[in-house]
Amino acid sequence: MDKDDLLTALDAVGNDLDRYEEEERYYRYCHTNTHYCDSIRNPNELSFWYPKAVESGFRTPETKIIFMPPDLFGDLLIDCEGNQPELEKRIKDFIIANWDVTPGELDINSKLFFRLGGSSGKFSFQDNCIVNGPDTFANAIRNTVYENLCLDKPYSCTFVFREFIETEDERPEIYRGLKLNTEFRIFYDFHRKQFLDGFNYWGDHDRMLMGMPEKQQKEYENAYPMLEGEYQRLLPALRNECEEKLSRVNLHGRWSVDFMWTGTEFVLIDMAEMAKSYFAERVRIPGEE
Ligand SMILES: Nc1ncnc2c1ncn2[C@@H]1O[C@H](COP(=O)(O)OP(=O)(O)OP(=O)(O)O)[C@@H](O)[C@H]1O
Ligand SMILES: [Mg+2]
Repeated sequence: MDKDDLLTALDAVGNDLDRYEEEERYYRYCHTNTHYCDSIRNPNELSFWYPKAVESGFRTPETKIIFMPPDLFGDLLIDCEGNQPELEKRIKDFIIANWDVTPGELDINSKLFFRLGGSSGKFSFQDNCIVNGPDTFANAIRNTVYENLCLDKPYSCTFVFREFIETEDERPEIYRGLKLNTEFRIFYDFHRKQFLDGFNYWGDHDRMLMGMPEKQQKEYENAYPMLEGEYQRLLPALRNECEEKLSRVNLHGRWSVDFMWTGTEFVLIDMAEMAKSYFAERVRIPGEE
């Protein structure tokens, strides 16, 4: 039934309140469906790039991707704020039902890293990104959807649960529980199979310090020389590994590729099209400087 048919049918009923509610429901439905379709087609969704990134041979966190049904996607967007016991139960039951237990796969009850396909809720890391079994899923999911809405991030239609990557060195934490590991944002041209540029993931002081509580600012500023030193020390090795391994990945165009250093190896954790990535405007394209 399209909108005109719906309104004609409602006119026949002649009840203003019903009509208003039905119109509202119709618009909500269309709105949600548009976002859902956009999200499914978004190449920056982890479900698109992750299976390709695995082909590089870089270590990546073992990953479980669960697609939301459209009704849950819509209800989460509308009701992510506030206390919603019914929605929370639906989320938890849905994930349990869709977690096929194959031996050797991620254990649903273990400590895992949670994010949406488009991005994480890292600014409240402990609450949003760390889950410890199904009872903790709904809270992390609602908070992450809400954080992404507040930050105007693209809508996402997948739940992503990942092996939690532990790193060897003691480090201070920012964003309520996020360990300041050595991380890299690399830019790579998959069409030309060319390494473009690399950045210290924590390297933009002004952006990092914006809105950060004073105590964390101090921790970050104290840790920065060490983070930058390790970044500079390891970048040539990562560059060599990227030149060898990223050439195996079946993607097109220019992308950012994020890595964590565990103390012994690089782990490929995130990707996005270059145009959608922070630092993109500072990338020096070889031969175009
Ligand atoms: N599997 C993991 N185990 C432990 N920590 C992780 C894992 N994946 C990511 N992290 C940490 O969480 C941060 C955010 O993760 P991720 O890059 O997936 O989300 P994002 O919101 O897309 O980030 P960005 O905005 O930088 O693209 C990472 O920079 C890293 O510090
Ligand atoms: Mg990202």
